[in-house]
Amino acid sequence: MCGIVALVGSREASPVLLEGLKRLEYRGYDSAGLATVTTDTDTQKGFITCKKAEGKLFNLVDLISVEGAPGHIGIGHTRWATHGKPELRNAHPHVDSLGKVAVVQNGIIENHTLLRESLQNKGIKFCSETDTEVIPHLISEELSRLTQDGAIPNGEMLFLAVKEVLNLLQGSYALAVIWAETPDVLIVAKNKAPLLIGFAQGEFLCASDSSAFAGFTRTVLPLEDKELALLTPLGVEIYDSLGERQHRTPSLIINSEKDIEKGQFRHFMLKEIYEQPETADQWISRYLPDGLSASSPIALSFEDSFYESIESIQILACGTSRHAAMVGAYLLEQFAGIPATVFFASEFRYAPPPLAPNVLTIGVTQSGETADTLAALIMESERRSNLKDNLFSSRQLGITNRIESSIARQVSNIIDIGAGLEVGVAATKTFFGQLLTFYGLAIMFAAKKNKRSLKEINELCSQLRLVPNQLRDLIKIHNRLTEKLAHQFVNTKDVIFLGRGINYPIALEAALKLKEISYIHAEGFPAGEMKHGPIALLDYKVPVISIATQGIVFEKVLSNAQEAKARDACLIGIAPESPETQIFDHLLPIPKVSEWISPLLTVIPLQLLSYHIAAHRGLDVDQPRNLAKSVTVE
Ligand code: G6P
Repeated sequence: MCGIVALVGSREASPVLLEGLKRLEYRGYDSAGLATVTTDTDTQKGFITCKKAEGKLFNLVDLISVEGAPGHIGIGHTRWATHGKPELRNAHPHVDSLGKVAVVQNGIIENHTLLRESLQNKGIKFCSETDTEVIPHLISEELSRLTQDGAIPNGEMLFLAVKEVLNLLQGSYALAVIWAETPDVLIVAKNKAPLLIGFAQGEFLCASDSSAFAGFTRTVLPLEDKELALLTPLGVEIYDSLGERQHRTPSLIINSEKDIEKGQFRHFMLKEIYEQPETADQWISRYLPDGLSASSPIALSFEDSFYESIESIQILACGTSRHAAMVGAYLLEQFAGIPATVFFASEFRYAPPPLAPNVLTIGVTQSGETADTLAALIMESERRSNLKDNLFSSRQLGITNRIESSIARQVSNIIDIGAGLEVGVAATKTFFGQLLTFYGLAIMFAAKKNKRSLKEINELCSQLRLVPNQLRDLIKIHNRLTEKLAHQFVNTKDVIFLGRGINYPIALEAALKLKEISYIHAEGFPAGEMKHGPIALLDYKVPVISIATQGIVFEKVLSNAQEAKARDACLIGIAPESPETQIFDHLLPIPKVSEWISPLLTVIPLQLLSYHIAAHRGLDVDQPRNLAKSVTVE
C-alpha cells in the first residue's frame, strides 16, 4: 500500500507531485505529505520544506495552496497505515533530526525495531511510530560519516549514504530520498515494492505505478529489485546493489490514463457497476468475436500444447479476485474437467501443497500489485525451478486489469481483462472482467482437452454473447429495487448470504462488498452449511439473502432458505420469478438462465444492494475506511 512520487526537474515540483498523488490515492488515504528542497536566496543554503496532512489528499492540497512548498525537486506520499496510527506524526515524508534528509517509503522495514533501538541508544529522538523513520536517521548518520571522510561531491555522497543504508534494511521498500545539501539530486530505490521512473525533457518523475505518469510522460522504466537510481535534471543513472551501473532502455506505456470523471453518478462505484455491460461487450469483441474456429473458440494466443500439457490448475488470489477465482475453479473443474484449487495467496506463501507435475499456476489480481499474490507466484516459480525437472517446471499465467503492473512484468503469460480504470476501491467491473476471463479459459480447456461437445461449447459461447444486454436490463431494474430495499437496512448489524455451487463464491463476494463499504457485518455460507452452526445467529434482526438459481441445487437452496424463514429471518431472494420463489419476503428477480451463466447475473443485484445500503448511510463509498485498492505489503 501507500503511493510514492518523486520529481526532479526545473519547474515547481509540488503541483506535479500533488497530481501524481491524486492518481495514487487509491493506494491509501490515511494521510498525505510532500517535501521539497530549495535554496535560500540570502544564505545560498539549501533547505527542506515538509508539509503533511492527516486524512485524504485534499487536506494536503489545501495546506500547500496556503503555505506553499517551493523547489524543483520533491518527494510525495499517500499513506495506508501499517506501523503507527493514521495520525499526522506518522504521515510521510519523515526527516532526520537535523531536518535535512527527507524520505518517503512504501513497504515494510521488517528489522526496524532493532535499527530504531540502536539509533535511540545513540541519542536519536524519534517523532513517529513508523518503520520508515529509521531510514532518514540512518542516512543522516552515514552522511556525517562520509562528510568526515573528506572530498566527495554532495550528490555522490547522498548516493553512497543511501546505498550503505539499504544494506541494513530487511523487508520491502520503494523509497525516495532528498537532502537539503543537494537541491538537484534525487535518490530512489526499490525491493519487493514497485517503483517506476518516467522520462520527460529535463525532468524525471518516479512513482509507485504508471497511472501517476498521465499527462507527464509515456516513456517509463521500471526499477528492478535491489536497484537504486540517482536522478538529476541532466539524467538518470541506475545501479544494482553492488554498485554496477545498469543500462536499460525505457519503454512506452500503452495505456496512458485519461482523467476519469463520475459524470452523472454520485459515486464511482455506481458508475462502474453501470459500466459492466460495456466490460462484457468489450470482452466479447476481443476474446469471443464471431468467426472463430470450433477448436479455438476463444481468442487467446496460447499454443495448443499449453492447454494439452496441463493436468491441474492452482489459482492464487486475494479478496474479490479470490472470489472470481473460485467461480473460475468451479468452471474449470465442472465444465472443463480439469482439477482446480484456489488458495489465499497469503496462505499459499507459507503452506504450499506438495509439488505435482504439469500444474498451471494462475495469479489473479486486478491491480497487478498485490504483494501476497506476486510473492506467492515467485515462491512457486522458485521451488519448481529448484527441482530441475521439466514435468515440474513452472507454468504461470496472470489475470489482471493493469497490463503495466508488476504482475505483467513478472509473469510471461498475461490475460488483460480490459475493464478500464476502476476508481472505486470496492471492485465491481474488474470482478466481472475476471469472471469472464475464467469463462474463456474454461471454454478453451474444455475444447482443447475434448471434455465438452461442440454443441455444449457453442451453447455456452452463445449464452455469453447474450450477457451484455441482460446486464443492461438487470442494472436498470435492480438499481431501482435495491435503492428502495436499502431503506430497510438502516439498523441492520448482521447479514447472511447463502449460495451453493457456482453461486457460493457470489455469496462470499456479496458479503465482502457489504462489509467493505457499509461496515455491516456480513458472512457468506454455502447454503447447506447454514444448519451446521450459522443458523444459531438467526433471528428477525438478521436478514438472509439467498441466491437460488435454476439448476441442480435450486430446490436445495430453497429448502435452506425455508429453514431461515422458520427462524423469523427476513428472507431476500436473488432468484427467478416462479411459484417456488414466492417464499421470499423480497425478491430481486433474475432471468432464468443456465446455471453456468448465472453468477454473471446474480452478482448485479448484490453489488447494487451493497452500494445503496452504504450510500443511504451517507458513507464514503468510493474510499471506505481502512481499505486501499492495491495492497503492496504482506
Ligand atoms: C484489496 C482491495 C480488494 C481487492 C484485494 C485484492 O484488499 O481492497 O478490493 O479485492 O485487495 O486486490 P487485487 O488487486 O489483487 O485484485
